Amino acid sequence: MVQSVKRDKKDRVLSIRDLNISFKTNYGVVNAIRGVRLDLFKGETIAIVGESGSGKSVTCKTIMGILDSNGIIDSGEITLFYKDENGNEKTADLTKMSQKQIRYEFCGRKIAMVFQDPMTSLDPTMTIAKQIMEPMIEHRHMTKEEARQHALDLLTKVGIENPEKRMKQYPHELSGGMRQRVVIAIALACDPDILICDEPTTALDVTIQAKIIELIKSIQDEKGISVIYITHDLGVVAKVADYVAVMYAGRIVEKGRVNEIFYDPRHPYTWGLLASMPDTDTSSERLFAIAGSPPDLTNRIKGDAFAPRNPYALNIDFELEPPMFDVGGQHRVASWLCDPRAPKVELPKDLQEKIVKMKKEAGLA
Ligand SMILES: Nc1ncnc2c1ncn2[C@@H]1O[C@H](COP(=O)(O)OP(=O)(O)O)[C@@H](O)[C@H]1O
Ligand SMILES: [Mg+2]
Repeated sequence: MVQSVKRDKKDRVLSIRDLNISFKTNYGVVNAIRGVRLDLFKGETIAIVGESGSGKSVTCKTIMGILDSNGIIDSGEITLFYKDENGNEKTADLTKMSQKQIRYEFCGRKIAMVFQDPMTSLDPTMTIAKQIMEPMIEHRHMTKEEARQHALDLLTKVGIENPEKRMKQYPHELSGGMRQRVVIAIALACDPDILICDEPTTALDVTIQAKIIELIKSIQDEKGISVIYITHDLGVVAKVADYVAVMYAGRIVEKGRVNEIFYDPRHPYTWGLLASMPDTDTSSERLFAIAGSPPDLTNRIKGDAFAPRNPYALNIDFELEPPMFDVGGQHRVASWLCDPRAPKVELPKDLQEKIVKMKKEAGLA
């Protein structure tokens, strides 16, 4: 696992406070994001994990100004900390801006995003050259020749061989892995401070996955940018993240440094996620899965949303939403089990063993 950066307030690049987002639909109002609070610091990689539907993508789409049109930001703040072209320190609350304004002022240049399916970001009718050069000409005011040279450099950097040839091609002429590399090159074209990767390898086969993850990590190391990495795969998290936020039903239920989450998990939902993470010698049929399914977010949720699936739930979990307990270090947990009055619950045996094994593999035990 990677060495964590210091999380010093003065190095914040993004700060989300008490964010609530809902969607109007024919079947009612979906309360998709319920009180998310999260900070991103310069040079760190945050992984947002959680089952499908937990609110990972909605959170990031809101940051990018691409929330679906039936979505409403009910309350909260998303503060971006950045430097303007004269080097002056600025802040902007993205929830107070129109989506158009966010995209015009910040997308590409301050924040860039890589999606699961590279074809959502690529234009099938344009050559790779045009797609990668255009933002540099438009936003960085490069000449065509400068942009061409920079494009070639970027394609080389993301591991594309024979970039001259690739520049003349169209997206459909490239493999899936190659397309995702192009998308990453485009994302880097304007030198953003923040790179958001939403399940960037899910659509790719396993060997390519590892290479793309390696690529994102090396870019992060070299450029010192901040990365938000969305995934449902904790194996990936262990490889890339400094800091982890676990989401369930629109809330962050546990967050902390990667070691705090992997070696000292406190929320039974996180236990479930870790237990269901495949490791080198677990055969797939032995793999644990969290029983039940996430709640319907059109209903008002009483208590801890995970309670009905939680074998360790206390009575209070069905009644009252748990606050975020500070359990030391950077580690915060929204579970009544962390209340000093709660009965002591042991980590499941299998998970205890798994953690011992992970620590051994990391050379920590
Ligand atoms: N445009 C929309 N209209 C209604 N519900 C939506 C819309 N977009 C997302 N949702 C709902 O918001 C919740 C969070 O979705 P999402 O952030 O995409 O989850 P994930 O964690 O898988 O990325 C889900 O319940 C999803 O169905
Ligand atoms: Mg998603």
